[in-house]
Amino acid sequence: MGIETSCDETAVAVLDDRGRILSNLLSTQVDLHAKYGGVVPELACRRHIEVIGPLFKEALAQAKVALAQVDGIAVTVGPGLVGALLVGVSFAKSLAYALGVPLLPVHHLEGHISAVFLEHREIAYPSIALVVSGGHTNLYHLSGLGRYRLLGRTIDDAAGEALDKGARMLGFGYPGGPIIDRLAKKGDAEKVSFPIPYRSSDHYDFSFSGLKTALRQMLAKREFSSGTDPSFSADIAAGYQWAIVESLVEKSFRAVEKEGAEGIIVCGGVAANSFLRKRIEEEGAKRGIAVYIPSPRFCTDNGAMIAQAGLARHDRGEHACLDLNADPNLELSNFEPA
Ligand code: KG4
Ligand code: ZN
Repeated sequence: MGIETSCDETAVAVLDDRGRILSNLLSTQVDLHAKYGGVVPELACRRHIEVIGPLFKEALAQAKVALAQVDGIAVTVGPGLVGALLVGVSFAKSLAYALGVPLLPVHHLEGHISAVFLEHREIAYPSIALVVSGGHTNLYHLSGLGRYRLLGRTIDDAAGEALDKGARMLGFGYPGGPIIDRLAKKGDAEKVSFPIPYRSSDHYDFSFSGLKTALRQMLAKREFSSGTDPSFSADIAAGYQWAIVESLVEKSFRAVEKEGAEGIIVCGGVAANSFLRKRIEEEGAKRGIAVYIPSPRFCTDNGAMIAQAGLARHDRGEHACLDLNADPNLELSNFEPA
């Protein structure tokens, strides 16, 4: 079983011992947080507590698996909102203790990367992994299963956060990433040009806060008021998305070249973005690099990716003790379960 409660989605999944999905349930809190324009930690935590029990029962029922047949409990231990993480970790610990089965700690970003293995059993190594979500924009070198080296990360906002904040400035709701994705299809990126941010070739870091400021200034200059000029909003969305995506594509493929990688993985919620997927596929094909991007439903937070990462740890005998604790700032590069 995989349990995920690090942010605003409660998710539980059941995989069989070969990694096939038997059930994969999600209870989203998007409506709960929408009116605040972002996730409110205390509300997230309370909602996780309300839904995790029923969701867990339903995941077993849909998988047609009895409680006694469960062989391991994988759970996200970090990073994320501490209160939210604690709900999943406490629930998983109780279950593992009651059932006498291994407790399998999973790093949230390892979960996102593992989503690839739900659909591709084998990948080429070394690979570069771009993990792009609402909280992270990290670039890793993967030399094998579970062996990660951090190459670069955002120095300010995450790509998903920049998209969410951009959408809010345009007067749209939360989460803004999917809204920008849809709107951008109707716009022309060349009509509103934004520079590709933070392009220096001597590092793999990203920065999106300057872009956000450029957008704010552009809207102020035009005395923009939401809803009054839909074609301008669509052009802005296209231009803003273009600059974010090109920054991600440029740095990722620079890493592929410099590190001599054979494949590229793109995962995390922003990997659901249709323009990012298209650009990565195009560049991969041009350079003869294998591209691995999970289906959109496995890009955003889900339980199956956590169960998949847990399965790999289970196979390697990497179990945790019952004193396992949530760690909101857990780093992937030095994540070693007890
Ligand atoms: O991985 P995720 O579900 O949660 C975190 O771990 O943060 O990622 C959520 C982020 C949000 O910022 C959301 O706007 C973004 O993923 N997102 C998208 C799309 N779908 C979700 N961004 C761009 N295009 C999309 N289609
Ligand atoms: Zn995530």
